[in-house]
Amino acid sequence: MGSFHEFSVPYWVGKVDGHDEYQDTILELIEQSPAAPIENEETYEREWVDNNMKKTQIAKGDFYVNNPKPEYAVFLFEETGIREQMEAIMKDLGYKGINVDAIWFQQYYGTDTHSWHIHNRTHWACVYYVELPDDAPPTTLLDPVSKETIEPDVSEGDLLIFPGQVLHTSPPNESDDRKTVIAFNMVCSGACHPPPKSK
Ligand SMILES: [Fe+2]
Repeated sequence: MGSFHEFSVPYWVGKVDGHDEYQDTILELIEQSPAAPIENEETYEREWVDNNMKKTQIAKGDFYVNNPKPEYAVFLFEETGIREQMEAIMKDLGYKGINVDAIWFQQYYGTDTHSWHIHNRTHWACVYYVELPDDAPPTTLLDPVSKETIEPDVSEGDLLIFPGQVLHTSPPNESDDRKTVIAFNMVCSGACHPPPKSK
């Protein structure tokens, strides 16, 4: 019979460089971007979460929209310094470089919520809070060993980076104001074995 042993895996919180300068442009580009509601009936039913019947309901987003190169994403990664900022953060952890391989936006209104989930096939999940009203809840993470929930202290303009396999949720918005996030998946590069060749 095995058991889990613990070691430190961090999450990162900090302001996106230049957020105040770029916020309006990013919101405008999001406004022009094709979007659709994000709805998912799947619930996460475990005894250690108290809101286990919560389903995903997000008014606007492009997770399910076929738009491989949205303009807000091109602007964010080619016209601002966020890529360099993230490279520096990951170098501090010992990685060589980064690859962003999925990016999407989500706009929450009213009691919109995103149920517990993980990000498949990625090292790090990233959330840029383009708009975060003071009374909107932050992303909540679940410590996989202790089963305690963690609420990172984030505010508008912040970037949150956490391991993609960590369960997390966006609790009901509860705010009258809109919450806008750009989420993306990041894969780090470094010394590693290449994937096995397919037969
Ligand atoms: Fe997520």
